[in-house]
Amino acid sequence: MIKKAKIHQHSDLTFRHNVGLWRHGWLRLTPAYSVKVVDEIISASDAERILDPFSGTATTPLCAADLGRMGVSVDINPFLVWLGNVKLAHYATESLTRAEAAFDRVCVEAVSTASRKVNPPPLHNIERWWSESALDFLCRMKAAIDDSCDAGTPENDLMRVIFCRTLIAISNAAFNHQSMSFKDASEDEKFIAEDYRRISLGFSKEILESAAQNPSGSGEVWLGDSRQMSCDKDQLFDMVVTSPPYANRMSYIRELRPYMYWLGYLYESREAGELDWQAIGGTWGVATSKVAEWMPPKDFRIPSKLSAIATEIEGAHPKNGRTLSRYVVKYFFDMAKHIESIKSVLRPGAEVHYVVGNSTFYGHLVSTEAVYAELLENEGFSSVDVRILRKRNSKKELFEFVVSARAPASAGKGSGSQSEASLAVAAGS
Ligand SMILES: C[S@@+](CC[C@H](N)C(=O)[O-])C[C@H]1O[C@@H](n2cnc3c(N)ncnc32)[C@H](O)[C@@H]1O
Repeated sequence: MIKKAKIHQHSDLTFRHNVGLWRHGWLRLTPAYSVKVVDEIISASDAERILDPFSGTATTPLCAADLGRMGVSVDINPFLVWLGNVKLAHYATESLTRAEAAFDRVCVEAVSTASRKVNPPPLHNIERWWSESALDFLCRMKAAIDDSCDAGTPENDLMRVIFCRTLIAISNAAFNHQSMSFKDASEDEKFIAEDYRRISLGFSKEILESAAQNPSGSGEVWLGDSRQMSCDKDQLFDMVVTSPPYANRMSYIRELRPYMYWLGYLYESREAGELDWQAIGGTWGVATSKVAEWMPPKDFRIPSKLSAIATEIEGAHPKNGRTLSRYVVKYFFDMAKHIESIKSVLRPGAEVHYVVGNSTFYGHLVSTEAVYAELLENEGFSSVDVRILRKRNSKKELFEFVVSARAPASAGKGSGSQSEASLAVAAGS
């Protein structure tokens, strides 16, 4: 047995490893997992069709495509579906030449005081995010991109990625924590439009260079809910490599909001809460009040590895204990639905690998990996195995694990109402 005290944090096994790594480094998402972990798992098998039901920044399909396989992922967040498909696209040289020329023109417009500007997006407290000069630059840059070519063209998509990369780089957002905070903006007041232009030109060079290196395989991201998976019988998957949300109250929407407002995926704060309520483990805005009112359906059997801990969390705090306990139970209820549902899209015997972290609430340890193992066994998966991947932070009990198993012989039987084609249409709409 591995002694937990000897396990280290290993930043090469986190999103930090992906910075500057081909298309993986285009936009950061703190909960993205390491390319190294995914590459190792995929390379050790000859699986052809690889699925990630929790796409995020599309690390899995991009690794699969790079290794010459077919990668498909699913996400509930339409912005991430768009981003993933732009990262996975095959780019023709002519598109890249057009993108480079168009971006040069965009840069001229973005620094001109006479150019058109879009209105700043309705992001709450926008002045905390950007200085006046940075906001002015972004409003001109966005208008110039919109005017330069049609939405949905490869040039437009790539310029939008450069725009996203720029908007976060010149913002006051600091990512020195698992979530996000604001740094002191006074230093940034010295920057002028020309500085922002130089920064975005650097990103354009990096992004267009890596866009020119097309993967040997292919991949796509579908808009969908991993609790309602389905595909045609001849499209079943050989392998799952994924990192679902953790039961740690981290909301992806928090980090993604600036991109989503600027690119028109969000118009008001209530929508962010509604979207997070649909996402597993979300707690942004209205999602928290909804989870407080949520009751597990009567027929839901709480996994044995969870029931005692849920009661302890409930009793640990007079005001918030009940909500947090509901949050944890709802998280595993959703993951149980996902594991039940994923069987319908897997070949019998398909390998599944879930990278997941445990968490604590009021000092009570939620052993997520053990509950996953139980949920997989309940659904007839075999060879269930849990291994420690790394230590998560300075808290001695927090680790990341890989929970692996093989799909049951009964897998792949159901093809529900939502076929691959209909999911793909939803992704493109
Ligand atoms: C931990 S992140 C995945 C990170 C990813 N491995 C990467 O490298 O970027 C989990 C993702 O699951 C998505 N998600 C949450 N609930 C979902 C659901 N019900 N169906 C599909 N995706 C969901 C979130 O939007 C988020 O992008």
